[in-house]
Amino acid sequence: APVETLPPLEILLCSPRGFCAGVTRAIDVVETALRRFGPPVYVRHEIVHNRFVVESLKAKGAVFVKDLHEVPDTGAPVIFSAHGVPKTVGEAAGGRHLLTLDATCPLVTKVHREAEIHFKRGRHVVLVGHAGHPEVIGTMGQLPDGAVTLVETVEDIEAFEPPAGKDLAFVTQTTLSVDDTRDAIAALKRRFPAVAGPHIEDICYATTNRQEAVKQVAPMVDALVVVGAPNSSNSQRLREAAERAGCKVAVLVQRADEIDWSRFEGIARLGLTAGASAPEVLVEEILAAFAERYAITVSTVTTVKEDMFFPLPRELRPDAA
Ligand code: F3S
Repeated sequence: APVETLPPLEILLCSPRGFCAGVTRAIDVVETALRRFGPPVYVRHEIVHNRFVVESLKAKGAVFVKDLHEVPDTGAPVIFSAHGVPKTVGEAAGGRHLLTLDATCPLVTKVHREAEIHFKRGRHVVLVGHAGHPEVIGTMGQLPDGAVTLVETVEDIEAFEPPAGKDLAFVTQTTLSVDDTRDAIAALKRRFPAVAGPHIEDICYATTNRQEAVKQVAPMVDALVVVGAPNSSNSQRLREAAERAGCKVAVLVQRADEIDWSRFEGIARLGLTAGASAPEVLVEEILAAFAERYAITVSTVTTVKEDMFFPLPRELRPDAA
């Protein structure tokens, strides 16, 4: 349709949005490894939870595997994803003398070390997180079986029976809802006032900042789109945060062709953000799709400026070439 007949739509872009420093680094690990060693390089699990990113790296020669068994003994490197891995995975790779490159986000590694310190001090560790998420599997896998109890909700915390005679500590997944986690930690401290924990919770800066921007924008818009994958924890939390902040239509989409346009009928203002593993080209794709149906004007709502940067693992830095 000619532009003048399209309905007007004001789009508010949340900032910060999209790639965090840990995701940028993880992708850089794969690309640098491909240049350094040549294809194929093996990657255990999706390097970050985004199909577009995974497909782009596949096209350059990365081979994604679920399990270390699928990596042949040809000397090709194997990369661990940003979410981190249980200790047994590193040990199995070491046992086979595989060349491993660890793309675990340094902020996840920090949680691993915290859990280890608590364990060494004789504490039982309570992990606040989502069952089945690779980060949770990796964090639980830093300690022997039984040393960590996973809790997902305040109800889980109320029902938790700590092992007798043990001091308690807690750590959290990095990509949780800031608000839910505050409640969970409060419940934990109510029941166990002596529980040891981090000074500020383990939720990372990127998760916190993206949720904050959504909370600011959501009350100002009729609908909000989160660009991200259904298995991306931080993206799901952004969608929830928008809903809780009063936005009636809050949807998570991976690509423009997934948009259910019937949900956006009659809207005047749209919020747009992206999870930490979603590349900006996909935000642009969504903008272009809206521009075909609406006369859009775009502005940005910035809640904080980010300048986080994580250097590559030592083996991949230029001076190690
Ligand atoms: Fe790391 Fe947080 Fe990103 S833990 S990978 S900076 S979402």
